Amino acid sequence: MSSINWDKHWETNKEPEGARDFAEKMADRLREFMRSKGIGSVADYGCGHSTTLFRLAEHFTDIDFYGYDMATSIIQKNTEKARELGLMNLSFAQDSLPNPRKTKTFDLVTCFATLHYVEEIERAIKRLFERVNPGGYLIFNYPNTYTRKTYQEDIQPDDEYMKRRFALLLAGRNLISQRRIREILGARPKKFYSSIKSNIYVLVRNS
Ligand SMILES: C[S@@+](CC[C@H](N)C(=O)[O-])C[C@H]1O[C@@H](n2cnc3c(N)ncnc32)[C@H](O)[C@@H]1O
Repeated sequence: MSSINWDKHWETNKEPEGARDFAEKMADRLREFMRSKGIGSVADYGCGHSTTLFRLAEHFTDIDFYGYDMATSIIQKNTEKARELGLMNLSFAQDSLPNPRKTKTFDLVTCFATLHYVEEIERAIKRLFERVNPGGYLIFNYPNTYTRKTYQEDIQPDDEYMKRRFALLLAGRNLISQRRIREILGARPKKFYSSIKSNIYVLVRNS
């Protein structure tokens, strides 16, 4: 059960400017990464507006990109946009963590700013890793004890929306550490991006 109704959310809300800027930077970073690792297929879970996927799909026209999200409204919007842009290599489908229905596997799986809303976070991370081809990579960020502390400090006591949106995290019900990620995946997470302890992006190789 999600803390907010994402389907309704994306019917009315645009992508926040800060999120969009970050997604553009992430596209630059992933472009270099994909080139250096010879990545041939990519899936993003909790894709939202998919700014990163659109940028990458425009650049790597012979690589297939897939965006998954629980919210049907954003899947419809993205599908329409990809069609208008003539991006035949970018497709979208509704799917949910922690138990995605789709069984397709990919060289690169990403999941950004989404595990913060998933209660069964360990199951979700395991299922995401199962979607990675041998030799491929999973890249994601996750809520940890520092994230909780930061949100506790930053969210105003009267901000009922933010308290509801991040209820799981604030209650400490879906926090995880790099040590625990290593235990559940049997592979060592390496830092991919971010110097702040409350928002670390890790990379795990399925070797
Ligand atoms: C904060 S947005 C992040 C969007 C995008 N990844 C980004 O970094 O800008 C969180 C996204 O996760 C999706 N989401 C939330 N819970 C989910 C779940 N359990 N399974 C799949 N998607 C989920 C929401 O619909 C939303 O699009």
